[in-house]
Amino acid sequence: GYIGSHICVELLGQGYDVTVMDNLANSNEKALRRVEEITGKKLRFYEADIRDRSAYDEIFSQNEIYGVIHMAGLKAVGESVRKPLAYFDNNVSGTIVLLEKMKEHHIKRIIFSSSATVYDLTQGECLTEKSPIGNSTSPYGRTKLVIEQMLADLYHSDARWSIVMLRYFNPIGAHVSGRIGEDPNGEPNNLMPYITQVAVGKREKLNIFGNDYDTPDGTCIRDYIHVMDLAGGHSKAVRKLEEQGLFIYNLGTGQPQSVLAVVHAFEKANGLKINYAIAPRRAGDAPKYYANADKAKTELNWEAERGIEDMCRDSWNWQKNNPEGYR
Ligand code: UD1
Repeated sequence: GYIGSHICVELLGQGYDVTVMDNLANSNEKALRRVEEITGKKLRFYEADIRDRSAYDEIFSQNEIYGVIHMAGLKAVGESVRKPLAYFDNNVSGTIVLLEKMKEHHIKRIIFSSSATVYDLTQGECLTEKSPIGNSTSPYGRTKLVIEQMLADLYHSDARWSIVMLRYFNPIGAHVSGRIGEDPNGEPNNLMPYITQVAVGKREKLNIFGNDYDTPDGTCIRDYIHVMDLAGGHSKAVRKLEEQGLFIYNLGTGQPQSVLAVVHAFEKANGLKINYAIAPRRAGDAPKYYANADKAKTELNWEAERGIEDMCRDSWNWQKNNPEGYR
């Protein structure tokens, strides 16, 4: 997938061997071939579902697995409202199968892709790992929360586990080569892929969901993070797996940006005009939140290095070179 392929580039670049398991539900095998092309290294790929018990027996016996990075989650907020059982089945039941099989094969190191959506977004704007959690506005968000709680209970039952939960803010951007990037199925739900599809002529205009929020320009504020910085956070988290414990980190820049600011940054970075209109608010959107990422800096020696211009340039470089994504 989008984030996983960038993590593969980062880890292969750091000298790790990488084995990928994916059911290709929201991803494309071509991304892996391009990861190999970018890095000049090979990885192993198993096409299998997270709930497929026998696949783990094969993968864990054929490979020497140091630890698992688990990002096999469904993540479309609106779809999760329509199909809650599919979300709980894939995300929660899938994680239970993964953890049971890891335990059976004596692998007790895991990094989990969590989300800022686990925070109670009514309780503050600048979020630290100690900010209150809960009150999710979608089934998707609740699956992330349940998995975090399950991982904490697992650690409390057996302190030999090493568990790192990474709470992503808003990943955008692409590898600087323009060979891998975000390739959503159908109409994009998220801001940046929508902007790039307008820029490439696939969509007529961007709808900005609300300009009457209590923010300086009236549009919502988020913490956008370059996907390669996010990937760098994972390689630092892999080092953390050397320690037994339960660790939680925000991965964000701490630099809040409004929707309109992102649109304008995109126009400026790429010398393009984006056609947009103001539309009604989208249900469930919080007006403003962003990361305090100090803990990752102190404990992982990680911080985001790329700014909004880099994110906008690299997103566009990917989209213009791949107007149809991987197809
Ligand atoms: C959402 C989820 C987050 C999830 C992420 C990735 C919540 C609260 N947030 O983040 O958990 O990890 O998606 O799937 O559940 N916007 C527009 N027009 C568009 C698209 C977006 O104006 O066409 C605005 C939104 O209103 C929002 C901002 O852009 O203010 C960012 O939206 P989006 O990219 O969808 O991310 P989040 O909603 O922040």
